[in-house]
Amino acid sequence: MSRRGKRSESLLDELRKRTKVFEGESVEEELSERTPTGIKGFDELIQGGLIRGETYIISGVSGAGKSIFSLEFLYRGASQFNEPGLYVTFEETMQSLLRNGKNFDWNLANLIDKKKLLIADFTLMTLGDTALTLNPEAFNLDGLYVTLETAVKDLGIKRVVLDPVSVLFLQYPNVGVIRRELNIISSMLRKNKCTSIFVTETGNDPTNITRFGVEEYLANGVIVLYWEAEDDKRNRYIEVFKMRGTAHHAGRRRISITNDGVSVIY
Ligand SMILES: Nc1ncnc2c1ncn2[C@@H]1O[C@H](COP(=O)(O)OP(=O)(O)O)[C@@H](O)[C@H]1O
Ligand SMILES: [Mg+2]
Repeated sequence: MSRRGKRSESLLDELRKRTKVFEGESVEEELSERTPTGIKGFDELIQGGLIRGETYIISGVSGAGKSIFSLEFLYRGASQFNEPGLYVTFEETMQSLLRNGKNFDWNLANLIDKKKLLIADFTLMTLGDTALTLNPEAFNLDGLYVTLETAVKDLGIKRVVLDPVSVLFLQYPNVGVIRRELNIISSMLRKNKCTSIFVTETGNDPTNITRFGVEEYLANGVIVLYWEAEDDKRNRYIEVFKMRGTAHHAGRRRISITNDGVSVIY
């Protein structure tokens, strides 16, 4: 064989290796494998669930129900679908999260005992009178990556929530660095078939999710939660803003939050 022939042969081999993305499974199967959120009425809107291994953004104003939705995603995953979950909280302390969880008819403590639900507290600490910093004991971006990788590889975590990633953008001036880090995290999670939700808190305009540009870079889908006041009650809504690979319902739907969690009502 001529030198040229050999080279193109090995190039071809190399190319084959590099293009074999989905080992052992058909691409079709891989792309369509879904994991139900378990949130009542929601999976029906998105062809049965989220695509396994993908990253989703949940965005909305304060009080919209982002944390409850995310916690329920992990709760249902662990209790109904045998998918252990990890909740990384950047803003609300673990105590507060668990206290709020007690308002629901969910036995979170039991799941925590069984290591089917893990909560990692990466909350901000007060530094002097004005500044806030991420707890340096627990946190730097490498620390976050290592925590997630360990959880996924050693503990078999299948669902991850980061709540809210917008805190990272406020903390670090270099938006590009955070975006890159989140991208690296998202790729690692995808490789390990771990479905994840990155929460972003928006200002008053709940559709203004482009603030940090995360969704266009790494999210497979964006779900927006919001509420509107009517007299003395809050009407709550969910909207699937975009979802790759999914024929989803367009437009907003009403949701309610009760002791049983989030439900899409109509
Ligand atoms: N057990 C419950 N029943 C009904 N509503 C609840 C319950 N617990 C919390 N809520 C509502 O959920 C909202 C808080 O949701 P949360 O997920 O913390 O919001 P976000 O993370 O978007 O700021 C509150 O406005 C509260 O009214
Ligand atoms: Mg919250």
